[in-house]
Amino acid sequence: MLEQLSPQSPDALLALIKLYADDDRSDKIDLGVGVYRTDDGDTPVFAAIKNAERRLVEEQDSKSYLGPEGDMGFVNSLMPIIFGRDPAVGGRIEGMQTPGGTGAVRLAAALAQKAGATRIHMGVPSWPNHAQIFADLGMEVASFSHAADDGTADLDAVLSAIKGATALDAVLLHGCCHNPTGIDYTLEQWDAIAAALAESGALPIIDTAYQGLGQGLEEDVEGMRRVLAAVPQALIAYSCDKNFGMYRDRVGALYAMMRTPDRMAPVMSNLAALARASWSMPPDHGAAAVRIILRDEVLTREWRAELDSMRERLRQVRRALDKAGKAGSVDLKPVGRGHGMFAMLPVSKEQVQALREKHGVYMAGSGRINVAGLTMSNVGKFVGALADVTG
Ligand code: LMR
Repeated sequence: MLEQLSPQSPDALLALIKLYADDDRSDKIDLGVGVYRTDDGDTPVFAAIKNAERRLVEEQDSKSYLGPEGDMGFVNSLMPIIFGRDPAVGGRIEGMQTPGGTGAVRLAAALAQKAGATRIHMGVPSWPNHAQIFADLGMEVASFSHAADDGTADLDAVLSAIKGATALDAVLLHGCCHNPTGIDYTLEQWDAIAAALAESGALPIIDTAYQGLGQGLEEDVEGMRRVLAAVPQALIAYSCDKNFGMYRDRVGALYAMMRTPDRMAPVMSNLAALARASWSMPPDHGAAAVRIILRDEVLTREWRAELDSMRERLRQVRRALDKAGKAGSVDLKPVGRGHGMFAMLPVSKEQVQALREKHGVYMAGSGRINVAGLTMSNVGKFVGALADVTG
């Protein structure tokens, strides 16, 4: 039976990790997969995580099962950071731990599908795994354009998608630091989106994987909070992989918001059943470390300071690209205006290949760059390489 299977090409983004590792040029630049790097090009474990892990090793007295919901101390400690302290919204939200943000997106879509959704509206370009997850579940993806030609978010496109959606459709939105464009909706645009969603009855699924890496912890979720204040129900997929640097530990959560708290139980029991049938229980270690940080004022301060410095470095790189202005045919100014880790450059697949082969610059075939892969010492080389292949 298994010989019937046709080979699948490896995930293009993840394949870059290996290609980069196999390149022995000392001045190679990795702008591929979304991993934060310091100005020295490293991805160290957060000091706050190291401290929490030490404590975890000391204090953990059992590794017995927790259940499909995972570490509820972790899930609940994150809630004020994501949703603020507004009890009007907070009392209507519950969550569970998931294996990374991917697990949360998958669980959100599976729940929507179980509730009757067959179609999901999604701005494009998007994180390639979004479409892959929805296709794997057998859901129809209806795409709309995320960004307009002038490098701002395309409000008309999202509003017309929402207006065309039925109460049996879901709408996927990126909470902040849009992946791959770095172009976020402004607060005025979020207000319009919130009003349109409230009117349409479609289910918002908000993927928030980069809180704190754009404009600030609070600022990055303000738009999402405005949607939540307007709509009767929503699903929020959350990842700590970037803002706690937990990538391989797979630390995420899925939150559901209902109109009133008494409607919560059937939703949570369906989520638990879907999780049980998928991964049974999420991995514990990373979430436990995040819980320890968030329950300790000193560790929380340490984590926030580390996150602040990451955000500041991303902005510094964006400023440097903005200052460079142009590289060959590529206008770098819009990169200066973006948020978070990613930006899209108008380059062809052949130019991406030439950057890799001729200059050792690794980036996604779509033209996405991970801004965090640039440092004050390699940004000049990058701009020169870009000018060479596009000039
Ligand atoms: C990315 O977009 O690079 C990250 O979200 C990593 C991944 O899993 O694709």
